[in-house]
Amino acid sequence: MRVLVIGANGATGRLVVDRLKDHEVHEPVAMVRDSEQQPRFSGMGVASVVADLERPLDEALEGVDAVIFAAGSGGSTGPEQTLAVDRDGAVRSVVAAEAGTVSRYIMLSSMGADPESTGHPISHYLRAKGWADRHLARSELSWTIVRPGRLTDDPPTGRVNLAARIEGSGSVSRADLAEVLVAVLDHPGTPKRTLDLLEGSHTVDEALERI
Ligand SMILES: NC(=O)c1ccc[n+]([C@@H]2O[C@H](COP(=O)([O-])OP(=O)(O)OC[C@H]3O[C@@H](n4cnc5c(N)ncnc54)[C@H](OP(=O)(O)O)[C@@H]3O)[C@@H](O)[C@H]2O)c1
Repeated sequence: MRVLVIGANGATGRLVVDRLKDHEVHEPVAMVRDSEQQPRFSGMGVASVVADLERPLDEALEGVDAVIFAAGSGGSTGPEQTLAVDRDGAVRSVVAAEAGTVSRYIMLSSMGADPESTGHPISHYLRAKGWADRHLARSELSWTIVRPGRLTDDPPTGRVNLAARIEGSGSVSRADLAEVLVAVLDHPGTPKRTLDLLEGSHTVDEALERI
């Protein structure tokens, strides 16, 4: 599959592209929002496309078979940008995916994402992510929603806890998250599933077999 990585220049997106570029059967296309970010990908032989989640995405999705959504407005922007990118941008990408050639869609969401979230310091973010997740789950796409806890830049452990619902909180490294996002792409047990993710004790393959 040609896999469009949305947010390819981000901390997690880069790790996802790194994994996909060496994949036996899949091929990444890096979606970035600035042409100055393209040489990083062309330098490693990876195709890229310039597109912005706040604008039409149809061209970026041309000829794409699968999407991994790893973009985000980031912690330093205001609530308006959270709505524009994490909610509306994500929904726009789902709509464009449905209209195009995409069959598989992997959403990087967040533990706690909930369209009705209230009373949490980042409820606006959790609502935005929850709204996008709900839209995806109601689509005709073959979707999987991966909801990690707090992300770290720690080295990969290769050991995770992946389950429909994990109580409590915790963290997971972006490197382990990237392994999960790519492994989920063609794991037969994952379509139409929402999976929480934390660091844990199982290899990714074991964790996927257990769900
Ligand atoms: N941080 C956490 O603890 C945590 C926990 C759970 C889930 N998450 C989620 O995990 C995901 C990845 O997080 P991260 O920290 O690895 O990401 P990141 O480093 O903040 O990267 C986000 C990427 O999204 C891109 N982006 C932002 N606005 C865009 C737009 N309008 N159009 C296209 N691309 C846009 C950015 O582009 P530029 O490179 O041009 O800036 C950047 O490459 C996010 O969805 C986040 O909500 C984070």
